[in-house]
Amino acid sequence: MNIEYIKKYLDNPEKKIILLYETDSTNSYAKELAKNGECDGTVIIAETQTNGRGRLGRVFQSPKGSGIYMSVIVRKNFKPDITACTAVAVAEAVDKVCGTDTLIKWVNDIYLNEHKICGILTEASMSQNNYYAVIGIGLNVGSVKESFDSKLLKTASSIEDETGKKFNRSQICAEIINSLERHLEQIETRLFIEKYRKRSFLIGKEVTVLKGSEERNACVLDIDENACLKVRYNDGSEEVLNSGEARLIRK
Ligand code: BTN
Repeated sequence: MNIEYIKKYLDNPEKKIILLYETDSTNSYAKELAKNGECDGTVIIAETQTNGRGRLGRVFQSPKGSGIYMSVIVRKNFKPDITACTAVAVAEAVDKVCGTDTLIKWVNDIYLNEHKICGILTEASMSQNNYYAVIGIGLNVGSVKESFDSKLLKTASSIEDETGKKFNRSQICAEIINSLERHLEQIETRLFIEKYRKRSFLIGKEVTVLKGSEERNACVLDIDENACLKVRYNDGSEEVLNSGEARLIRK
């Protein structure tokens, strides 16, 4: 990754970008900065993370030099659906640069050819005098076949592994920053919800809904106007889920 190259592709070349060689987690780094008053829009990127964090307490594997591990500090336009809006922004950016047709797996994973290539982790602080969100994006660009174990490779992949092509991470990163800025500026219009629905990877599929220790199989009916997942369980009852996890049943 190269800061000059990223800036070359940015709509706003004045944007503050911090590029690190290694950190534990760009989200943790960004949260520390935000606690100390860092302004809206600052982006932190790392070549590798020693403790990359995923949703639900999971580890996010962050091999050096092949992925984009970035966090953005958001103070303005901070709405509950910020993660769904980010998923649309990232999917559009990847498709624009790589010519792909990415989908979004509820809640906020980006999929290419039935494999996860990107995860998003949003962390917010709502203390009265310091209100911010940190949006963390982890995108696998270069091949992960050598760095991920076989269990992870059942679900996870990368743009290179799915397309057979190599792409420039700085260019993709700049496009994500551009796309995210545009989408967040318009978040109140809620136009992103329809885009999110159209990209849904799960509509019509069989899933296992995980809630705490409970697991129930269901069919996914729709994504609603709040980016919630509408499911029908095997006993015929229906539910609208606003958080949690729906694991695809692979056939
Ligand atoms: C998930 O798949 O559950 C979300 C993964 C989010 C990973 C990104 S990488 C940059 C940022 N820093 C982290 O520690 N996590 C996020």
